[in-house]
Amino acid sequence: MSPAERAAELRRLLDRANIAYYVHDAPEIPDAEYDRLFRELRALEAAHPDLVTPDSPTQRLGAEPATALRKHTHLRPMLSLANAFDDDELAAWEDRNARINADARHGGYTTEVKIDGAAVNLTYARGRFVTGATRGNGTVGEDVTANLRTIQGLPLVLRGQDYPALMEIRGEVYFSAAAFRRLNTEREEAGEPLFANPRNAAAGGLRQLDPRVTRSRRLGLFAFHVEVIEGRIDAASQWDILALLERWGFPVAPHRAQHPDLEAVRAAVPGYEALIHDLPFDADGIVVKINRVSLHDDLGVVGGREPRWAIARKFAPEVAVTRLLDIRVNVGRTGALTPYAVLEPVDVGGVTISTATLHNEDVISEKDIRVGDWVEVVRAGEVIPKVIGPLPGRRDGSEVVFELPVTCPACGTAVERPDDEVIRYCPNETCPGRVLEGIVHFASRGAMDVRGLGYERVKQLLDAGLITDVADLYELKADALVQLDRFAEQSAALLLKGIADSRSRPLSTLLFGLGIHHVGKSVATLLARRFGSMASLREATEEEINAVPGAGPVIAAAVHRYFRTPHHRRLVERLEAHGLGMTEPDAIEADGPFAGMTVVLTGSLPTLSRTAASALIQRAGGHVAGSVSKKTSLVVAGEEAGSKLEKANALGIPVIDEAELLRRVAPSP
Ligand code: IVH
Repeated sequence: MSPAERAAELRRLLDRANIAYYVHDAPEIPDAEYDRLFRELRALEAAHPDLVTPDSPTQRLGAEPATALRKHTHLRPMLSLANAFDDDELAAWEDRNARINADARHGGYTTEVKIDGAAVNLTYARGRFVTGATRGNGTVGEDVTANLRTIQGLPLVLRGQDYPALMEIRGEVYFSAAAFRRLNTEREEAGEPLFANPRNAAAGGLRQLDPRVTRSRRLGLFAFHVEVIEGRIDAASQWDILALLERWGFPVAPHRAQHPDLEAVRAAVPGYEALIHDLPFDADGIVVKINRVSLHDDLGVVGGREPRWAIARKFAPEVAVTRLLDIRVNVGRTGALTPYAVLEPVDVGGVTISTATLHNEDVISEKDIRVGDWVEVVRAGEVIPKVIGPLPGRRDGSEVVFELPVTCPACGTAVERPDDEVIRYCPNETCPGRVLEGIVHFASRGAMDVRGLGYERVKQLLDAGLITDVADLYELKADALVQLDRFAEQSAALLLKGIADSRSRPLSTLLFGLGIHHVGKSVATLLARRFGSMASLREATEEEINAVPGAGPVIAAAVHRYFRTPHHRRLVERLEAHGLGMTEPDAIEADGPFAGMTVVLTGSLPTLSRTAASALIQRAGGHVAGSVSKKTSLVVAGEEAGSKLEKANALGIPVIDEAELLRRVAPSP
């Protein structure tokens, strides 16, 4: 098989695997096999750059970060939907349609879940994905093609032949509940503001300037509509359209149904309402659509905005009304001031809620939320409870307008609000509120894991003046501790042991523990592996940090700034002097024995698994490729090495065995 044929075959296999996974939700091959095929394709394309096609699965992340998003004019306007909140409104909708066209009552209906994400418009020309845009104002949106390409479920090339020459696919980009939870945990760890709900996170993820950030968000896509611009489709009903979309390779949301009449639609609503909470994505109702497509154009559009053939049947969210007792402000370890509501405890959908997020001061003033107000609170699925807004009709005049303090509630320093942000920050690095949260984070289980050092203990040590920063922990003495309340000799000894033990944590853990802005656990690991030691990360340029796969400009700027602050450099020096680990055991050796080499593994090695051998090579600075080409520096061959070994010999590429591999990666005596 020629390289061109193999590349085409690999693309076919990978596309097929993607469709099985994302469209049919039924994986056909194990992840490891997918990775292997993907790596082989990437290696093949690296060896034969002329074989790279724009729609290759390796090209999902082709673009460089943009400086601004370009505008995109939709070929047809992106419409919105009218809402029906109950059965009567649904019946009124049908009556209105029947007055325009009596057949409207007899066209049958489909129901689909209404995905609560960000609307997108995907242009396909001759079966290829060419442009993707956000809705914008319905006529002009933003071009987010590069970001959309990173969404694994989005087909870059359509299957089959029966698609029109030019069309726009309308769909919704969403955040899965699991991905949303993961993202917010990471943001919390990195000291960044949390997303209120998956919809905001999806919309934000889509509008990133750096597609790498979008990819890391792992967004999902569901398609539900086709606008044919050139050509035709063979579909008489909305039901056929959904089937077509699926056949072309688009993910379509689960739980759709066909109904003979509106009575049957109404009967289906309670079932949807019950299942909607358990969906792995957010949905805020169902969309009812007249099934027969020939009626769609006939019925027309209301106000240029809402098609008559479809309507959103919204479900009531779980809402409760309670009293807002107080608005308090929390100072996080990055200095971010976040207001939150203290509520009279209330049951919302079976859960008692006594605090709720208020996000930021703009939200409070836009909604005119006052202390003492009766407020509506909502809790939807995974989302943190939030205050929807006040009930002004129930005010008695005693309510007090809230103003975010202009000085930090913990230290009194004047707070700052960066131009492009809605959050105020306490800029004081030594603010007791920030220091407290910072030390608690440093000692927490996910970070340095200092046994016996929780929130209360940290507070006690700070109040007693025994510590002012994390380096002071390593200077604590037993005789000072036993003077404190609730400290006996044994608990003091245990704490000191917990602190001493934490000195052996790897660099990645320490970096995370330092609480550098934007550096969550996974970023800390990436940086530690790449730079290997605190010394080389500390001296790295912003460009060098930005070049680490998975980092990006925002992280690079934050890390670089951290190490340019004298206060931080001194802290790190003191930690080093106390014997804390400043290196990463799994680091990649930039000048290791395989630095700059492309190595191919073939056959089965006597003792090492493929993964173990790859790890050794990578750690020694090498790159492991899937197939042999002129660019291959070295082949490691084991038993039953086949065509790769032959090719290596033909190209005159050096071949070594496992023993030689182990000898080369062994530390020099
Ligand atoms: S049909 C011409 N179907 O909800 C196509 N929309 O609030 C009109 N949405 O603009 C839309 N799930 O972004 C349709 N199954 C679904 C949907 C859906 C979510 C979004 C869509 C629409 C918005 C209206």
